[in-house]
Amino acid sequence: MAGLRRKLKFLVTLMTVNLFIFILVFHGGGGQDKGHNKVLVPSKRFWSKLAPSQAYWNRQQQRLDLQHNPILASSNSNNTSDDDDDDVRPVPDWLNDTGLNPDPCQPDYRVTTHVKDYNSLPPRFKDFLLYMRCRSYPLVVDQPHVCQKTRRGEPPFLLLAVKSLAPHFDRRQAIRQSWGRAGVLANRTVVTVFLLGNTTAVDHHPDLSEMLRYENTHHRDILQWDYRDSFFNLTVKEVLFLDWMTTRCPGAQFVFKGDDDVFVNTLRILAFLKGLSGPRARDLFVGDVITNAGPNRDKKVKYFIPESLFVGNYPPYAGGGGYLYSGDLARRLHGASQHVPLYPIDDVYTGMCLRKLGLGPEKHKGFKTFDIEEKYRRNPCAYKGLMLVHSRTPQEMIQIWAWLNDPNLTCQ
Ligand SMILES: *[C@@H]1O[C@H](CO)[C@@H](O)[C@H](O)[C@H]1NC(C)=O
Ligand SMILES: *[C@@H]1O[C@H](CO)[C@@H](O)[C@H](O)[C@H]1NC(C)=O
Ligand SMILES: *[C@@H]1O[C@H](CO)[C@@H](O)[C@H](O)[C@H]1NC(C)=O
Ligand SMILES: *[C@@H]1O[C@H](CO)[C@@H](O)[C@H](O)[C@H]1NC(C)=O
Ligand SMILES: *[C@@H]1O[C@H](CO)[C@@H](O)[C@H](O)[C@H]1NC(C)=O
Ligand SMILES: *[C@@H]1O[C@H](CO)[C@@H](O)[C@H](O)[C@H]1NC(C)=O
Ligand SMILES: *[C@@H]1O[C@H](CO)[C@@H](O)[C@H](O)[C@H]1NC(C)=O
Repeated sequence: MAGLRRKLKFLVTLMTVNLFIFILVFHGGGGQDKGHNKVLVPSKRFWSKLAPSQAYWNRQQQRLDLQHNPILASSNSNNTSDDDDDDVRPVPDWLNDTGLNPDPCQPDYRVTTHVKDYNSLPPRFKDFLLYMRCRSYPLVVDQPHVCQKTRRGEPPFLLLAVKSLAPHFDRRQAIRQSWGRAGVLANRTVVTVFLLGNTTAVDHHPDLSEMLRYENTHHRDILQWDYRDSFFNLTVKEVLFLDWMTTRCPGAQFVFKGDDDVFVNTLRILAFLKGLSGPRARDLFVGDVITNAGPNRDKKVKYFIPESLFVGNYPPYAGGGGYLYSGDLARRLHGASQHVPLYPIDDVYTGMCLRKLGLGPEKHKGFKTFDIEEKYRRNPCAYKGLMLVHSRTPQEMIQIWAWLNDPNLTCQ
């Protein structure tokens, strides 16, 4: 009886509130519209005309934008008789790319004149610019079935993609023995792959190909493409991975992509993913997000970018130490990346692709790409709530993983 009365009372309250909201909306809406029901037509063009940028990357982006956006292309002509936007306008001179070699993987020597200070740039920029148009390299070690032949025969819930270098055998092994152990964890299928390029003789690397071959026969988790594995080619690694993922592992629900010198609390990540709602899971991209950054102009810094290459600010991006995103978003990033010229800094590039999709990365305080305070580093409980810490040695990875899996570990 009392229950019924409470229900009735609740219903009446609900209806009163509804009526109140209705009055508010109706009244407010009516008041606002008075005298403003005319459509405002701008008297002149409200966007600015596209002029070629002085910076090479920006110019390539403009070119791609024009190619993929017919509206931009038609509004770009000099012809300002604004009302005939349907006809096809000639391409502006600076977009005329007739000297182009049809094979994007042949070195593009036009950059030597198209980039203002090409000759005085450090060698890594010259290498980058000459091959900037090349996005496909042969996959020499593949794992075509790694996402089908899982323990349960289902696509991975979480795919761990670890950027590594050929000589980092110990890091890969530590990851296999700790946070990257493939199989079933917390009742979820986890698959791990290592992403490698080629450490070439050009860079005076010893030939480790036999050892890699041996490693791969044991673990079957190496992906290797035949391109020079350098810092500025990490973006190549990113697009090659997205290619691979869309063909070989399209069913993966989530992807973690990161370096081989981070500790990842896979248990915490799985717990976090379990709690996500559908829409949030679909657009998920979390990491240690850097906002309001721009190119570094100090020639001595690893991240230096000359003005002749890029001007402007960086979009928000997640630090390349590691970030977590949905498989669905991986497929969309793969598409978007084809409309963004390669940029020498891989995590910034991913931010650019996200922006193309109208999305941005989400900051999560569990990603510690700048480490945690010194005094907590040997405290097992400090890792319990974290998703990623950078950087850790192979030994530390195994130690921290043991701490986290100790059933006796009690933390407040
Ligand atoms: C566009 O206008 C500029 C300045 O008015 C002129 O210098 C240029 O030659 C024009 N280009 C074309 C293709 O008409
Ligand atoms: C603009 O385009 C129209 C239609 O193509 C053409 O008749 C006209 O001469 C053009 N005007 C200029 C200034 O190029
Ligand atoms: C591009 O430039 C070349 C020579 O510079 C010229 O022959 C060609 O007609 C131009 N193409 C377009 C689409 O303007
Ligand atoms: C484990 O996951 C499977 C689906 O992958 C599910 O059917 C099962 O109920 C889960 N078991 C537990 C204990 O959560
Ligand atoms: C990689 O580098 C090695 C050593 O420099 C070289 O012999 C090999 O041809 C390169 N390519 C592949 C696919 O291994
Ligand atoms: C990227 O890899 C390609 C193919 O191996 C190479 O030619 C180019 O020099 C590399 N770029 C950089 C910046 O190392
Ligand atoms: C947990 O604690 C119990 C009792 O102190 C001990 O016997 C056991 O070995 C411990 N387990 C681990 C994994 O340390």
